[in-house]
Amino acid sequence: MSKKLYIETVGCQMNVLDSELVVGGLRRDGYELTHEAVDADVILFNTCSVREHAEEKIYSALGRLVGHKKSHPDKVIGVIGCMAQKDQELIRRRAPHVDMVVGTGQLGQIPSLVKVVQETRQPQYALSLGRAEAGKKDVEASFESYDPVRDPSMRPTSFQAFVRIQIGCDKFCTYCVVPSTRGPEQSRHPNQIWGEVKQLADEGCKEITLLGQTVNSYEFEHGDGRRTRLSDLIAGMHEVPGIERIKFVTNYPKDMTDDLLDAVRELPKAVKYLHVPVQSGCNEVLKRMKRMYSVEFYREMLQRCREKVPGVAISSDFIVGFCGETEEAFQKTCDLVRESRFKNSFIFKYSKRPGTKADDLYPDDIPEEVKKRRNNDLLAIQNANSLADHKSKVGETVSVLVEGPSKLGMKQTSGPIQLAGRSMTDHIVVFDGNPRLIGQTIDVRVHEASPFTLYGQAVTTDLQKTETWSEPVSYPKDPANDRRLGLPLV
Ligand code: 5AD
Ligand code: SF4
Repeated sequence: MSKKLYIETVGCQMNVLDSELVVGGLRRDGYELTHEAVDADVILFNTCSVREHAEEKIYSALGRLVGHKKSHPDKVIGVIGCMAQKDQELIRRRAPHVDMVVGTGQLGQIPSLVKVVQETRQPQYALSLGRAEAGKKDVEASFESYDPVRDPSMRPTSFQAFVRIQIGCDKFCTYCVVPSTRGPEQSRHPNQIWGEVKQLADEGCKEITLLGQTVNSYEFEHGDGRRTRLSDLIAGMHEVPGIERIKFVTNYPKDMTDDLLDAVRELPKAVKYLHVPVQSGCNEVLKRMKRMYSVEFYREMLQRCREKVPGVAISSDFIVGFCGETEEAFQKTCDLVRESRFKNSFIFKYSKRPGTKADDLYPDDIPEEVKKRRNNDLLAIQNANSLADHKSKVGETVSVLVEGPSKLGMKQTSGPIQLAGRSMTDHIVVFDGNPRLIGQTIDVRVHEASPFTLYGQAVTTDLQKTETWSEPVSYPKDPANDRRLGLPLV
């Protein structure tokens, strides 16, 4: 009988990719995926520590497994990823039934750790060094990621893949746990990255999303004076046959260099979309966050992006209710959102993270109701802008990579169903069509817009003309595990 693996993933795209690699490793040991935790021999939680809420969800899920573990002591329960790296002691105390705590830099060891737990019934811990625990080189080495074993079945879709180009972060924004959970910033060798992209293209992958916490700080020093920047990296993979689209997330405002913007403009496969989080529209708040730029700098950067890449769509992240954020400071953020014409924004209420500089230095002094209200107010301003942005697309014909059925389409069982995909500016587009269009790039004429979605009609293709609509619909992936429209990367 085959061994079963259950893996639950929360957090950013980096975690989605990590889970793909962990599944790949365990599959080689004969594990098959199951969607029910209680059916599995190995139960893994790939965790996120960016906000407290994400951590509490994991502790609740672990709590629900206490009885199951008691009656099935042979099962292996593992907490992996950011929370594991950050809170091994706490996990030991709050969830003593956990058998395995594995940090972001040790995921490659999971298959062997599972065996040790099964043989010894002793809990196993594998973690990287803390950033102040040793010299730079040793800390870096302890976070080094392993050679990935790609598992196509865990990808967002068979024709889309994430590729990690950088690990860690050295920016140390005061509110953020990532520099400690993912370690020092390290860029991967371009040859490795290009090799992976070629392999993915051979497997039928059309869209590559390059991942890094500050992806545009990517730089690989070859040691002989040569260096490869993100723009060079994109230019290199642009030549790979089969690849149609190249995206990259998440950008750091100060590292948005002209060579990168030139590459995005000049290279037809580069998606004309930039996610560049600003976090706040008030200089005092940005200073306390240690973002290292001013609102004026960010405004100029936005203008430069738009001048250099005509038609580019830009999105941002915001934290509301950060320590000491006055009403006046918040209004400055509202002003920035009003004027910036972001395609969309991800807005978060500040969540105090133990171990961060902000937690040491500043009281979390904005009441929860105020954070909530500011969140709603900012969202309302952004939604009005998103609607205006979407409406400006009505009448245009956009090229859509069809990702799968929309939420509505998932419930439709015959005939043309509602399909969803993204345009070259990362706008979500839905339209009615044959499920066989999933994975293809087609032209869609936009006739209606909401704040989140463009509605359109496929510009008729030969494929559509000859299709009959009566056959049963089958989807490439279990919709319950569908992560196509995921959150931005921290
Ligand atoms: N509280 C709330 N939001 C946070 N983010 C990062 N750390 C925190 C925190 N402590 C947000 C930032 C980042 C996004 C992915 O998560 O806006 O860009
Ligand atoms: Fe790094 Fe982004 Fe976190 Fe800042 S918010 S420390 S840039 S991961």
